[in-house]
Amino acid sequence: MQTSKPRCSTLLDASFNQACPVQEQCGGCPLLPLDRSSELKTKLDSVSTSLSEVGVSAEVLAMPETQRFGYRNRLRMKVVDGRVEFFNKAKHDGCLVVSPILWAAIVHVLAVSASRPSLLADVAHIEVRVGDDNRLGLVTSIPVDEESLQQELGDDWVVGSRGSDTSPALSYQPASGVEIAVPITSFVQVNSAVNRQLVQVVLDVAELSRAQTFLDLYCGAGNFSIPLAERGLTGTAVENVGAAVAQLGRTIPARNGAIRCIEGDARTLLSELEPADLVIADPPRAGLMESHRQVANLVGDTLFLVGCKTSSFARDVAALSSDGLELESVRVFDMFPGTVHVEALAVFRNRPDCDSSTPH
Ligand SMILES: C[S@@+](CC[C@H](N)C(=O)[O-])C[C@H]1O[C@@H](n2cnc3c(N)ncnc32)[C@H](O)[C@@H]1O
Repeated sequence: MQTSKPRCSTLLDASFNQACPVQEQCGGCPLLPLDRSSELKTKLDSVSTSLSEVGVSAEVLAMPETQRFGYRNRLRMKVVDGRVEFFNKAKHDGCLVVSPILWAAIVHVLAVSASRPSLLADVAHIEVRVGDDNRLGLVTSIPVDEESLQQELGDDWVVGSRGSDTSPALSYQPASGVEIAVPITSFVQVNSAVNRQLVQVVLDVAELSRAQTFLDLYCGAGNFSIPLAERGLTGTAVENVGAAVAQLGRTIPARNGAIRCIEGDARTLLSELEPADLVIADPPRAGLMESHRQVANLVGDTLFLVGCKTSSFARDVAALSSDGLELESVRVFDMFPGTVHVEALAVFRNRPDCDSSTPH
């Protein structure tokens, strides 16, 4: 149980450009004590090393500079007897990587749950989110009286429970001039600014290669599909979370037929899908595993492999290269400053004359 009220902004105001004073106790951001350029170099080196360990030699392109603090747009917390707590108690005094608006929202949730624990009785954990439009969301691990909880939290909030196919959504901007609604129970990239850098690379390559069709595997709520459709491409998007697929299906590009939405397990659906000029594969941390060859067979011109776990990413890059795709570039995005994690993007080309027996 909390013993003192968490501070809303003191720590953020005082330390925004300094090392985090609770970094050591917290442990969540082991790279924060490094200066920024050393942090970025450490991350580039870790991806290069993982790739060379699986026999892939590739230049890893430097990642663009980004905001080091205040980027996180969602945080999971535990609930004990209806009272919300941090999984990591050191966060009680603040967290520099959490967006200041999200931090204020967390402070509010802590206060509401302390004064009315019955609202979250039997809930094991929650996630608090902030959209790019600063609206707030709270997701509970089991269904609760959402109306009472929402009233207690206030008008800026939407509330939903995990697993629900009808959860409300928050608004995000994955590309300039493009808004998407992401159900609060579906995946959303944790760092909106860096997500925009990632999506922009996909859009730039799509434009340069004059792609017309896409296949977005593990599409979430359309982070890549909607910006691509807005630029005139048509394609298919596959995702296994019903709320995300339903939301994508309600968008204008889907209703106009520019995006065909399929709900289901991407791995089992691969054999039924048509090849496309661009394929985007953005699987969960485990990566593509044994499905890499089927994915490679669907690539008309370009494959984007996105990975947030370096070892799975490197293994998939090696596998796709031996499937005959030509690795064109690897980029690293600092989606999670302070932590050891990165988001990596490999761009492959399908060049039929590429000799797949060439050692990497
Ligand atoms: C890393 S997220 C990427 C989502 C989206 N591309 C984005 O950028 O927001 C992976 C997505 O794959 C979905 N997913 C996980 N396993 C899946 C499966 N077997 N088949 C289809 N989708 C799956 C998750 O629900 C999640 O939305």
